[in-house]
Amino acid sequence: MEKFDKKAIDAKVAAGFPLTDRWHNRFHLEMPFGLINDPNGMTFANGEYHIFYQWNPLGCEHKNKCWAHVKTRDFVHYSLPELSLWPSDEHDKDGCYSGCGFTEKGEVRVFYTCNAKNDGVRTPAQRLGTLQADGHVEKDEIVVPDSPEGITGHFRDPYLFHRHGKRYFVIGAQADEEKPRGTVLIYKETKDGWQNLGELKTRLQDFGYMWECPNMLHFGSYDTLIFCPQGLEAREFDRQNIYQAGYIAGHLSLDSMDMMQHTKFQELDHGFDFYAPQVLQHEGRHIMLGWMGMPDKDAEYPTSEKGWMYSLTLPRVLTLRQGHIFSRPAAELKALRIESTAIDIDADMESSILTRLFDGSEVLLDITLGKAQKVTMTLAYGLEKTVFSYDRTTQAMTIDRTGMKNGGRGVRRFKMFVDKVLSLQMFVDRAAVEAFFQHGEDVASMLVFPEKNIRPELRIEADAALETVTGRVWELDAFRFNP
Ligand code: FRU
Repeated sequence: MEKFDKKAIDAKVAAGFPLTDRWHNRFHLEMPFGLINDPNGMTFANGEYHIFYQWNPLGCEHKNKCWAHVKTRDFVHYSLPELSLWPSDEHDKDGCYSGCGFTEKGEVRVFYTCNAKNDGVRTPAQRLGTLQADGHVEKDEIVVPDSPEGITGHFRDPYLFHRHGKRYFVIGAQADEEKPRGTVLIYKETKDGWQNLGELKTRLQDFGYMWECPNMLHFGSYDTLIFCPQGLEAREFDRQNIYQAGYIAGHLSLDSMDMMQHTKFQELDHGFDFYAPQVLQHEGRHIMLGWMGMPDKDAEYPTSEKGWMYSLTLPRVLTLRQGHIFSRPAAELKALRIESTAIDIDADMESSILTRLFDGSEVLLDITLGKAQKVTMTLAYGLEKTVFSYDRTTQAMTIDRTGMKNGGRGVRRFKMFVDKVLSLQMFVDRAAVEAFFQHGEDVASMLVFPEKNIRPELRIEADAALETVTGRVWELDAFRFNP
């Protein structure tokens, strides 16, 4: 039997839906078996969004990298995931790594990194492909056969973009220096093929040994480079995961290959489990999906024992304001709402507010702090808990997962400015939690694996009387999967 038998694997996926394990999320994309990571190949064609993602259908290790594929019109109804692209020749025998998607003459095209390792030496080739009616990607030509002079074998994750009517791609790379250095390269399409324009200059110094998964975006007159640097040290209020996912915003000059007047590096998400995001630009919206997981931390995710690992985030719509990216859940997700209970409390008298959540909830809260300097929002699963606490004096949010028994624990801390009202929109799925603060100014994503199969309680407490707590808790429906 073939190692990657599309028919057999697709049948096994179909048999695995609907997902039943209690740690399987209901409104996040995930797989009944195998390990998923980066979203890939996102594009819109003929009325449908196409979402691909990295998938090892054969186990819970970072091996056998294939692409899975789903389609959706509304981010609520999805086609059943299928195996779409898999290693099949000497170029991609060690993995069909990440890449982007685009639509050309009505066809869904993909552009990905072929990973081949021989005697420990990587030969990364960048190749095109075309999605076929039967759901598999037909591999087309290789457009860049290897990493260029001065770049190691860590050369991957091409992302196409347009400027002045021309096509370019940005790609993650490692400069081959005494101390390997993370960077991105840009290529331009010419009539003779793809021309390497070289490294994009930035003001970032000493910024890690590898940059993965770049995206080049355009917001009004600003350009934004999203990328995932590896090798940064953790600091008091940022860079607290092993690897980061963030961006710089500025002005891209393709003539001088310079990202001019750019902001400092800012993270896209302050939680524990967010990496390798990809952005699809469609009808003026920048729609981002991320991987809910973290490379080189597999031991922190207990679902591997059940044969599957990881999730993708909800789709988030990005906007850039004063050099900062705001992320909000895509409006389409409102269609998941079933029924709600209102929260409307003159909290003066109460020291603690409690509400029991649904099996899948969206919490919308405005907390007017009044005299309180410290407010905590606890997701309690019986005695287990994940605690969000905001301290006005230090203007810092702390997320503490040490109260959970299973999976990754620890603390994440980030700066966040709240004047009078702390605003929270939180999606609580079976294991995935995504919290949007201050209308998307800051976001934190994480996976929690409660020991007990119970619906969590949300507890709000403060060190002094809160003025008011108002909002709504929605019960959310699950994603629908149709053949
Ligand atoms: C990021 C990444 C990419 C690579 C892919 C392989 O998570 O390491 O750089 O293309 O995963 O699965």
